[in-house]
Amino acid sequence: MKLIIVKNAEEVALEAVELVCREIKKNPNLVLGLATGKTMIPFYKELVLAYKNSKIGFSEIKSFNLDEYAGLNENDKKSFRYFMDMNFFNKVNIKKENIHFLNGSSDDIKFECENYEKEIKKSWGIDLQILGIGRDGHIGFNEPGSSFKSRTRKVKLSDITRKDNGDVSKYALTMGLAIIMQAKKIILLANGKHKADAISMAVRGKIDEKVPASILKKHKDATFIIDKAAADKL
Ligand code: GLP
Repeated sequence: MKLIIVKNAEEVALEAVELVCREIKKNPNLVLGLATGKTMIPFYKELVLAYKNSKIGFSEIKSFNLDEYAGLNENDKKSFRYFMDMNFFNKVNIKKENIHFLNGSSDDIKFECENYEKEIKKSWGIDLQILGIGRDGHIGFNEPGSSFKSRTRKVKLSDITRKDNGDVSKYALTMGLAIIMQAKKIILLANGKHKADAISMAVRGKIDEKVPASILKKHKDATFIIDKAAADKL
C-alpha cells in the first residue's frame, strides 16, 4: 500500500484529481468506482473544475457507485444518487446511461445486487476505485466484521455510521469487500483528526475483518491520500 500525506483536505482533493486526470488521459474509457461522503465534496469540486478548465472529459467514462441507502429512491435528497447528481454528474459530461447505481428502493434486493455485479463484469471491471473511510474503518458500507469475501448485498448500518451520516436509513446496499478488491487501482482519501484512529488501524494494524479497510494492504495497487491530521496517529 502506498501512502501520500499532504497538508490539508484541499490538497488531498487536488492530489486525487491529478491522479484521476492521469488515468483518464491514459484511458478515456475508464471505469470509475465512486464514493460519497463529506471527504468527497472537495474532491468532486476539483474534478468539476478540471472538467470546466478542459483538463479532462467524462464522455466515455462509466461509473459505478459503491453504495446506497435502502428504501430511498434517487430523487430523495438523502440518497447518495442525489448527492452524486448535485456534486458531480449534473456538472460534467458523463452520459446518463453510463452511470450505474444500486437501487435502494428495489423490491428484489438479491436480483439488484447480483445484477450490479454482472454490470461491472460486463464493463470488464472497475479500473479505478475511489474510497473514503468511516471512523470505524468501514469502506463502502462494509462495517467492521464484514467478511473479506463479502459480495454486493444489503447491510445493517452501525450506530457510529448512522450518527456520522445524519438521520439515515438503518440499512443500505453496498458493494462487498471482495468486489472492491477486484478493482485494478484503488485510492482512499481521508482528512481530519476524526479519521486518525481509522487510518492508523488500517495502515499500522493487522489485516483483520474488524477493520474492513485493512484488507487494502493486500491489494497490489492501493494508495492512501490523507492529510496531516488524519496521519496524526501513524
Ligand atoms: C459513508 C460512505 C462511505 C464513506 C464514509 C465516510 O458511510 N458509505 O463510502 O467513505 O461515509 O464519510 P465522510 O467522508 O463523510 O467522513
